[in-house]
Amino acid sequence: MAITEKDYAAKLAEVRHFLMEKVNNQPEMGIVLGSGLGGFAEVMEEAVSIPYRDIPHFPVSTVEGHKGELVFGKVNGKPVVAMQGRFHYYEGYSMQEVTFPIRVMQVLGVTGLIVTNASGGINSSYRPGDLVLIKDHLNFMGENPLRGANHSNLGPRFPDLSEGYDLEWRQKALTVAREIGIHPQEGVYAAMSGPSYETPAEIRYLRTVGADLVGMSTVPEVIATNHGGMRVLGILCVTNMAVGILPQRLSHAEVMETAERIEKQFIRFVQALVRI
Ligand code: 6GU
Repeated sequence: MAITEKDYAAKLAEVRHFLMEKVNNQPEMGIVLGSGLGGFAEVMEEAVSIPYRDIPHFPVSTVEGHKGELVFGKVNGKPVVAMQGRFHYYEGYSMQEVTFPIRVMQVLGVTGLIVTNASGGINSSYRPGDLVLIKDHLNFMGENPLRGANHSNLGPRFPDLSEGYDLEWRQKALTVAREIGIHPQEGVYAAMSGPSYETPAEIRYLRTVGADLVGMSTVPEVIATNHGGMRVLGILCVTNMAVGILPQRLSHAEVMETAERIEKQFIRFVQALVRI
């Protein structure tokens, strides 16, 4: 049975109250830190970390490489909140659970979100270690976080996704990147439910329908963020090439190693982006 609008609003109000007692500045921007990219939280000023398990109604993160904390602080003087570790659909959470922290950010007054992740490259011009700005997505998760009664206080029944990844932010991000000597690519991200990686046939299919990258996250959060009227910038790190693109097998260890190798550059980029 879906949660009623009133109960959901009450839950969010409770979380908001709990968090606002612990931190003294209201975040303007949210950042979702993907696998192996959590080190960003260490460069935040006046950081206050709150473990997910302490936050009322929050799911708890289980996957290796994910810390499971909400970190409030400042970046270049701007108040931000970062999710250090996200909830994945493949862990068994519902889409509503996966996007709950996004709703929390929305009721905290966040107006824009930077989402990050570690993805597999399908476009053969990509190399492991490349940073890519998401320009659009394909939702192949077989689910949608907005299914069920609409919470009309949070957003419309049928939200438009014609610019799911804010064009102005993407353009600004490219300028910022150039200034700091980073050359991100742009691409279309396909989200799969996981946790198994794709078969070679699935990757050929994804390539045919226009996917440049593939992963198991981000899309639910981006749908909820758009529904809530917040802007989104999506940046990902190509941690490995998808199967069949190179003649080698995939390993989660490779994904983590590449994410670690690129982490410093990535942190520098996100730091610079908070200016936008
Ligand atoms: Cl190749 N596929 C998926 N679904 N997720 C990934 C990946 C591939 N590489 C990193 N994350």
